[in-house]
Parts: sequence; structure tokens; C-alpha cells
Amino acid sequence: MESKIPAHISAPNGVWLAQFLLRTNEGKALAILSAAPLAFGAWALCSCFSFTTVLLITAVSVVGSYVIARGGKVSTKVDLSGKTAIVTGGNTGIGLESVRSLAQSGARVVLACRDTKKGEAARESITKSLTGSGSVEVRELDLSSTASIRAFVQAWGQADLHILMNNAGVMFPPYSKTADGFEVQIGTNHLGHMLLTVLLLPVIKRCAARVVTVSSIGHALYPILPKKQTWAEALSPSADKYNRELQYGNSKLANILFTRSLEAKLAGSGAHAYCCHPGVVRTELGRHAPEIQKLNDTLGSILFKSPSEGAQTQLYLATDPNAKPVLFHADCVPVESAPVSYSDEAAAELWAESCKLLKIEV
Ligand SMILES: NC(=O)c1ccc[n+]([C@@H]2O[C@H](COP(=O)([O-])OP(=O)(O)OC[C@H]3O[C@@H](n4cnc5c(N)ncnc54)[C@H](OP(=O)(O)O)[C@@H]3O)[C@@H](O)[C@H]2O)c1
Repeated sequence: MESKIPAHISAPNGVWLAQFLLRTNEGKALAILSAAPLAFGAWALCSCFSFTTVLLITAVSVVGSYVIARGGKVSTKVDLSGKTAIVTGGNTGIGLESVRSLAQSGARVVLACRDTKKGEAARESITKSLTGSGSVEVRELDLSSTASIRAFVQAWGQADLHILMNNAGVMFPPYSKTADGFEVQIGTNHLGHMLLTVLLLPVIKRCAARVVTVSSIGHALYPILPKKQTWAEALSPSADKYNRELQYGNSKLANILFTRSLEAKLAGSGAHAYCCHPGVVRTELGRHAPEIQKLNDTLGSILFKSPSEGAQTQLYLATDPNAKPVLFHADCVPVESAPVSYSDEAAAELWAESCKLLKIEV
């Protein structure tokens, strides 16, 4: 596990973000797509090109960006017969496609979701096309309720578990609280998944399982640390200090720091922790952000991944023998996460403050 804060910890966020974007397929696609307006601009301002050339550049940049944005694919087909997986938020979006693929590879997959009716509809749609020995089972799990998480784990008991995919997430809702009084984004995306994982730790260690937590590039857009906020403050923002973008970013930064701490706690067990950005994907994640849904419906069909394409990186981390624990991944390859996410001090503080809120000792 990397434990040193890199020298560029103080690099400006914007510079890092540009570098990160250019390392991901959607960033490269965006850069290629920008050739079209640039060519139009040049044509309008100085007639540097003929209009035919501008149209040609536009066509090539649209097709090129479409092709490049799709990239990052699981290349090793692993037989998961006899393996058991849990996928949180498996009823829709990236989670649903992860359930489909794991079951198609032979795993018994538990689709954990808060709305079991939606879960059953997803299960039916998946099982219709299943060809191998894999299966899908729906179980209730509401990550915004510690009682629901504890009931889920209690029912799980000591049963085997080989893959835990912490996939569910909520983005940009108005200020609201979970059943236990936590702010909903950090409560669901981070605290809910942390409690689930910690309660399943004995089984995870015994089965040398993989824990894959789905973070986001959002972890870098609004990180708390440069603003000198403490994790105690970030975990429990008051209504008047609530900023939906900042809090989503905090919850996704927490996913990475949690993965670092978890990997240390799993040392020697054969179990490992993984973390990724799935890409920008056409799903229901923007349900609280109409502006993002609009983008989804327009540029999204060129630049955004389909849910199946978006599921590739977490599937790679869950199954590929060569996947590297802890390192942040996008498009099925390791990519450097934001400087703040390498801070051991921040990871330790987050872990301690989260344990206090969850009333657990690990
Ligand atoms: N789409 C993207 O571009 C993108 C980019 C970066 C990262 N991500 C991450 O990818 C993951 C999957 O998101 P998605 O894009 O597939 O979004 P999605 O289509 O909105 O799916 C989110 C899933 O999380 C579930 N969920 C939300 N709150 C829950 C709770 N309290 N308990 C249990 N399940 C809950 C939802 O269940 P309901 O249907 O019941 O609400 C749904 O199944 C998220 O962690 C997200 O942050 C997505």
C-alpha cells in the first residue's frame, strides 16, 4: 500500500483535474471533441480552412470522441462458479450491469437494494438472459439506515462472500438526513458502506474477498482538506453550511480514504480493497440535478458511457487476477487520484470520526 503523501500534495486542484481528465477516456474524448468548435472558430475568424475542411474535422472529432469515450473493458473472463457476490444499489444503472455480468460469469449474486420491488424487476430482466450457472437473489438493504444494514448482515450470518461491491450512491440531493441523523450523501455513500463492510469483515477475511468501492472523479472537484475543514465537520454539516456538490465530493473522497484504511486492516488475510471512478455514465444518478440529466440527454450519447461500459472498471477490480488493490482505477487501469486522497492522516481521521458516528470499534 502506498503510504507517502506525494510531493505534489499542494498542486492546484485545477491542474490536477486537467491532468486526470486527460488520462481518462472521456477526458481524451472531450479534448478531441473540442477540435470541432475550434475549427469553426478558426474558420469564422480568419477563414484559415475551407468550410468542407471544418465539416470534415467536425465529423472526425465526433466519431473519434465517441469511439474513445467507450474504452476500458474487462479483458480476462474469469469463471465465478461457486463464488458469491453482493452488489449494493444493484437495481439500476452501473450496479444492475455489474449484477448482470457477475451472474453471467457464474456467480451467485445478491442484489442488495432498498426497494425490493425494483430489485425483483431487475432480477427478472437479468435472469431472462442468463445462460450459465449464475443466479441473482434480491435482499433488502437501505444504506441510509444502520438498522437495515445490521439486519442485512445478521441475516447474512457466516455465509461465504467473495466480492462485495459498494456501488450504491446518491448525488446532489437537497439537505436531508438518514434514519440515524447523518447527512444523506455522506451517510449513504460513505457511512452506510463502511458499516456494511466492517460488519462483514470476519466473512470478508475468511473468504479472502475483494471489496470494491465505487468512488468518482467528484472526489477531486470539491475536496475538504485544502479548505481546512476537519472530517468531523465534513461528516456532519449543518443545513446552513450544506453545499450539495461539496458534500458529494467529500463522500467520494471518503470512499478512497476508506479503501486505504480498509486495505491496511485486511493485511495478511488475503482479502483486498479496491476503488474506482466508473467514468461519466448515462444513469439515473442525476435525478436530483436536472442540469446533469439534460447533459445526459444531449452530449451524453456521445461522451458518456452506457451503464454496461461504466460497470467495466468495478468488474475488472472485482474479478481480474492482475487488478491492483488500493490504487485508484478508471477505464480498467490505475490512475492517480487527487493529492488529498493520499493523506494517511486524513484517512486515519476519517476512520476514527466515522467509527464514533457509527458507534463501532475497529
Ligand atoms: N453515473 C456516473 O456518471 C457516475 C460517475 C462517477 C461515479 N458514479 C458512482 O457510481 C455508483 C452507481 O451510480 P449510478 O450512476 O449507477 O447511479 P443510479 O443509476 O442513480 O444508481 C444508484 C443506485 O444506488 C441506490 N441507492 C441510493 N441510495 C440508496 C440507499 N440509501 N440504500 C440502498 N441503495 C441506495 C439506488 O437505489 P434506488 O433506485 O432505490 O434509488 C440505485 O440502485 C454511485 O456510487 C455513483 O456515485 C457514477
